Amino acid sequence: MKILAIETSCDETAAAIVEDGQTVLGTSIASSLDLHQVTGGVVPEVAAREHPLKIWPVIEDTLSQAKLKLEEIDAIASTAGPGLLPALLTGYLTAQTIALTLGKTFIPVHHTLGHIYANFLERNPKEIRFPIVVLTVSGGHNQLMLLRDHFDFEVIGQTRDDSAGEAFDKVARLLGLGYPGGPEISRMAKDGDPQKIALPYAWLNENNSKEKWDGANFDFSFSGVKSAVKREVEKHGKLDPQFVRNCSASFQEVATEVLAQKLIGAGEKYGAKEIHLAGGVSANTHLRNKIQTKSEGKFTFRFPAKFLYCTDNACMIGAVAYYQDKFKIFPEIKDADPNLTLDLFKKD
Ligand code: KG4
Ligand code: ZN
Repeated sequence: MKILAIETSCDETAAAIVEDGQTVLGTSIASSLDLHQVTGGVVPEVAAREHPLKIWPVIEDTLSQAKLKLEEIDAIASTAGPGLLPALLTGYLTAQTIALTLGKTFIPVHHTLGHIYANFLERNPKEIRFPIVVLTVSGGHNQLMLLRDHFDFEVIGQTRDDSAGEAFDKVARLLGLGYPGGPEISRMAKDGDPQKIALPYAWLNENNSKEKWDGANFDFSFSGVKSAVKREVEKHGKLDPQFVRNCSASFQEVATEVLAQKLIGAGEKYGAKEIHLAGGVSANTHLRNKIQTKSEGKFTFRFPAKFLYCTDNACMIGAVAYYQDKFKIFPEIKDADPNLTLDLFKKD
């Protein structure tokens, strides 16, 4: 089954044609990142204005890579939410219009499930074994979920304030680094000393103890460590390069340690066969290596097969849409929804 998938929930205008939830036949992505680098973050109106200009060229490019005509596509999918409403609308309405015009099935997709199904791309689905515990870490989301089976899931932890990606972006800004902050922090951290600046681990322990995680709570919080970085920057005064490298390394170390321990802890508690990492922050190699080392001999650990599938992309939307069609998950959604709930996508 060949699905044309569209993703415009934030600043990326993306299309992909994915076969059977696994093989990417073509994909094209236009980003308005250069415009957001000037402002140091995504300005919703700026992102929204770019999508209508880019959507058709991106779809045409995708079709030409796949050597397919629109008529040869079996179904059309689009992110329905969550995201920025004016941005979501372009992709959603375009996909609906194509589906209506050609008399094809339209599949509305939840963006977070898209990130999760990025781990099914370029993999043999028979080798992926449930139950899975998946940590989705991106700019917009930070969730730990137990997947008992396709569309049988439960959120077991989430952030109480900023998402991990947001924290990387805000800390990068405090350190005078560019946007998006994740790759910049990771680059600076390579030559920094993670022990030089003491930053707090946000374990969220019941008795507020700080030394190590008590294993009870699977929520996250990143505002404390961000404020601690702010205090260190103010104390230090000048942002000299070695301070920026050390601060990047220390922040990356405490943030990834908490993420890694809670993912593995949840895998153990819920008897997972596999643990997965998804979303923009899953591109972070320090985090991947940490989880890999800690999970050795316990579970199969997967992260997206390509860096392209970590950050926002349409391939992941095509992947989850295939399984929605297979398991008949067609939630009744009237319109794109910036606060779309995950519950609509659960199997009865
Ligand atoms: O999934 P994504 O593209 O967008 C959302 O759905 O939010 O994630 C973007 C986030 C940004 O906050 C960015 O700083 C972060 O992913 N990111 C990284 C890395 N690459 C991207 N964070 C840490 N390390 C990276 N290498
Ligand atoms: Zn995303």
